[in-house]
Amino acid sequence: MKKRPCIEILGTGRAVPERILTNQDLEKLVDTSDEWILARTGIQQRHIAEPGVPLSFFAAQAAQAALADAGASGEEIDLIILGTVTGDSKFPATACVVQDLIGAKSAAAFDVSAACSGFLYGLQLAESMMAMQGYRRILLIGGEILSSMVNWKDRDTCVLFGDGVGAVVLGPAQGSHGVLSTYIKSDGAFRDFLHSPGCGSLNPPSHENVDKMLHTIHMEGREVFRHAVTSMADALNQALDQAGVAVEELDLLIPHQANLRIIEAVGKRFRLSPDKIFVNVDRFGNTSAASIPIALDEARKAGRIASGSLVGMVTFGAGFTWAAAVIRL
Ligand code: UT7
Repeated sequence: MKKRPCIEILGTGRAVPERILTNQDLEKLVDTSDEWILARTGIQQRHIAEPGVPLSFFAAQAAQAALADAGASGEEIDLIILGTVTGDSKFPATACVVQDLIGAKSAAAFDVSAACSGFLYGLQLAESMMAMQGYRRILLIGGEILSSMVNWKDRDTCVLFGDGVGAVVLGPAQGSHGVLSTYIKSDGAFRDFLHSPGCGSLNPPSHENVDKMLHTIHMEGREVFRHAVTSMADALNQALDQAGVAVEELDLLIPHQANLRIIEAVGKRFRLSPDKIFVNVDRFGNTSAASIPIALDEARKAGRIASGSLVGMVTFGAGFTWAAAVIRL
């Protein structure tokens, strides 16, 4: 029996910095090559914000685009959820800054910290809060300025990440269209495989900790890769089961865009043909919490999916956290 949705997507939007950093640009920064990056990750370029331009700047742009797409205004928004690990500052929540920038005077606003899973964690929160609190319009944003915490001397990580924001406006489902299932999971035992250990209460900011680059991204790439494939497969299976949907019924799978090899490995496990899997990692790199909502907006606006399409979304990130969802657009 297919679940009746309680929340649906009314509009989508995205915003990315204009500046593009190519693999050739990175060859001038670290000992790497276009061939290595392309073969190991599928990435050709990423968008990078000018130093000092904060997340809220792009988040407000993506939010305005999603509001325009939904035919809604900032004043109508009851709740803003922003998935990010690179907010403007430690506090207040960047969602509050966005609230002010878009004039969402009636909204409550907070950030969600689930790294690359931030958008899908936020989707489950939005679904639950709409059901329990009777909200009418929720703005869900996933966004990162990862360039602000990349170690540009570390070739293991600096070639992977990009900046950007995606946003959706959600409202109560009117019929059979909407969010059919959401599944979220985490395992903190693996927290040290992908983390930024500095600048929190564990390693407060000090000259010594900054010299040790503790404020930047540290990753055991191979371990993360291994867990990503199995956990994404598990999450997608759970979300499909909950939705009562077979994988062959999906019109499009939107996986987290971290690495083309991870995307292909997940696709292979589900025997999905490549034309059913959305890929834009080549142009954006890994934008963490922004990757799924940016891809969702691109897929809609490119006509890959439309009203009625059945879409799967699946992600994996630091924590470890992982998540999936199935929606009928
Ligand atoms: O969004 C959250 C989730 N994050 C991810 O999903 C990322 C998961 N991990 C990955 O995508 C991959 O593990 C990476 C792309 C990070 C690395 O690919 P890999 O195939 O796992 O490479 P590796 O780490 O095993 O490194 C292979 C070799 C090493 O050299 P040796 O030890 O074999 O001599 C590295 O030093 O490649 C070297 N290497 C590089 N060479 C050129 C590492 N980075 C680079 C580089 N350019 N940028």
